[in-house]
Amino acid sequence: MGDRALDQQESIKKYDAESLDTERACEFLETRIIHISEHTLEDEAVSEVCSILRRGGIVALPTETVYGLAANALDEEAVKKIFVAKGRPQDNPLIVHIAEFEMLPSLVREIPESAERLTRRYWPGPLTVVLKKSDRIPLTTSAGLDTVGVRMPSHPVIREIIRRSGLPLAAPSANLSGSPSTTTAQHCIDDLYGRVDAIVASSPSSVGLESTVISLCTPVPRLLRPGGITYEQLCEVLGEVELDPAVLGRADPKSRVSAPGMKYKHYAPKAKVWLLRGDSDAYCRYVNSHAAPGCAALCFEEEQEKLTVPCCTVGSEGDPQVMARELFAALRDFDRKGAKTVFAHCPELTGLGMAVYNRLVRAAAFDVIEL
Ligand code: TXA
Ligand code: MG
Repeated sequence: MGDRALDQQESIKKYDAESLDTERACEFLETRIIHISEHTLEDEAVSEVCSILRRGGIVALPTETVYGLAANALDEEAVKKIFVAKGRPQDNPLIVHIAEFEMLPSLVREIPESAERLTRRYWPGPLTVVLKKSDRIPLTTSAGLDTVGVRMPSHPVIREIIRRSGLPLAAPSANLSGSPSTTTAQHCIDDLYGRVDAIVASSPSSVGLESTVISLCTPVPRLLRPGGITYEQLCEVLGEVELDPAVLGRADPKSRVSAPGMKYKHYAPKAKVWLLRGDSDAYCRYVNSHAAPGCAALCFEEEQEKLTVPCCTVGSEGDPQVMARELFAALRDFDRKGAKTVFAHCPELTGLGMAVYNRLVRAAAFDVIEL
């Protein structure tokens, strides 16, 4: 085993020893709802959010991918509150958000040339790069790893908050652990009211799925989680990119280094989801022949009129952008309407479809039916 691997094992051991009780009941917090839009960035409201974050508080706020639950990434006590509020497993590392490229060098040990090229092209935006972390990043933020995921979001509200507070913000998706991610302020209120110091109410997230996570610490860049920047877009800049097995399949439960977050139950509504792969006719035939009370369909617009169960449509079959944007809201909607079984039609696995599939197959607990 190389020195680096040993270092990493040491740091993980040390981190586990300081175990954090995320099962602990979250104390009730007075949650403030603070309205900020891209047109009101000058308002007092931004200063108010910055001062909550500087005092070590936690705030749900909008990004272009999904809403995030943010704390000062450099303040261990603040970061611990995120894990408790979400009920998040403590070995799942957090992404650190920055507003300017100049914030990056002090957070990481080195910036490889691949990171420079990739971020020049896709930042600000839905891309997280995993690099060796510097000592400024506490082990609570990196969940004991010697690497850190960093992202520069494009949403003007979070960027202004980072800029004005001067803080790099650790922010996982602002949902209860295991539930679908949140793409509106109302979703955040549903999951986190009483568990966080504030929720910034702003517009719905425009991408709708979390960022692409790519490790640049491996000999060949490795895609850990597909997202708003597609595999094809990564290859355009980097040439070769490996797919982590967790992207399209189940993550190895013993693996904590490659894609820790991918091994947990994820994005799951209360309804049982079945993911159906096949053409539109086969999908509609299957759903109609299994129609029963409590069944519902997550389908494309063209399919709605052919189906005999209640439907939630997610755009046209050829338009994965709409499916990405509306997927999490649709999964939450099925719960509100009391669906017991959801038949979801699988998109093509190319482009954004790969990211949609990655979330859906987890929502379905890997129950895929080939038609
Ligand atoms: O779009 C996003 O990325 C959103 C918004 C709020 O920015 N954040 C987000 O965070 O999705 P979260 O915590 O829900 O997902 C972070 C993912 C997890 O799968 C985690 O395991 C992975 O990124 N990750 C974070 N740091 C990592 C690291 N150092 N090495 C490998 N994977 C890492
Ligand atoms: Mg998440």
